Amino acid sequence: MTNTLEDNRPILEVCLTPALWDQHDPKDKNVVVIDIIRATSTIASALHHGVKKMIPVETVEEANTWLEKGYLVAGERDGIKIPHFHFGNSPFEFMGEDVRGKEIIHTTTNGTRCVLKSKGARNIVAGSFVNQDAIFDWIKKENRNTILFCAGWKDHYVMDDALFAGAVVRELADDFRIIDDSTLSAKLLYKHVRENMLRTVKQATHFKRLQRLGIENDIKFCMSNPQFDVVPIIDGVGFLKL
Ligand code: MLT
Repeated sequence: MTNTLEDNRPILEVCLTPALWDQHDPKDKNVVVIDIIRATSTIASALHHGVKKMIPVETVEEANTWLEKGYLVAGERDGIKIPHFHFGNSPFEFMGEDVRGKEIIHTTTNGTRCVLKSKGARNIVAGSFVNQDAIFDWIKKENRNTILFCAGWKDHYVMDDALFAGAVVRELADDFRIIDDSTLSAKLLYKHVRENMLRTVKQATHFKRLQRLGIENDIKFCMSNPQFDVVPIIDGVGFLKL
């Protein structure tokens, strides 16, 4: 007797660092880029607070050309604001009247780079703890093969990104298939530390690296769950609020 019960659920896969991106094929899949501290948390928060569009660009040089054309420009390298840009990469810089309704060019060390690497995907969205439930709902509603792309740090694995990927996998484990160990590991990591996430992340190298820059409040914010009801989605050029 043949087994006719096929598992037609879509696949959820986690890419733990950009160094492993070549093992994933984004064609016809949705990609959720995850850079918890801080790029994707900042993008989600900015759109929630009224920024019209966050436009990722790869290099400072490219951002400079937009600056010369009169655009607002934001970004960092190694966590430090580019001195002549209008803004750095802190979520708190994109909450005021001065940015409401504006389009902002955004370049960061890891996060925006991964957005650009995801080209070819069906949809590219920005996921983070600050818009967690909206992301869960969107992935579920899309019901399509999905890659959770952790931005890491200069191709290295970082725990905060994997934790958010694990939160997504845990939430959607009944609706999606898990077929690789990166995805299973992220789920188990989240299950293990979810009650003490900030305490755990404080032991991580990524936290220590950025804490030295005096951005502890940003980190606390990025690890919090204000539940902004926003799915930042690339419209071809930049992230818009869905
Ligand atoms: C990045 O893209 O590497 C980060 O968002 C760095 C930062 O926290 O500014």
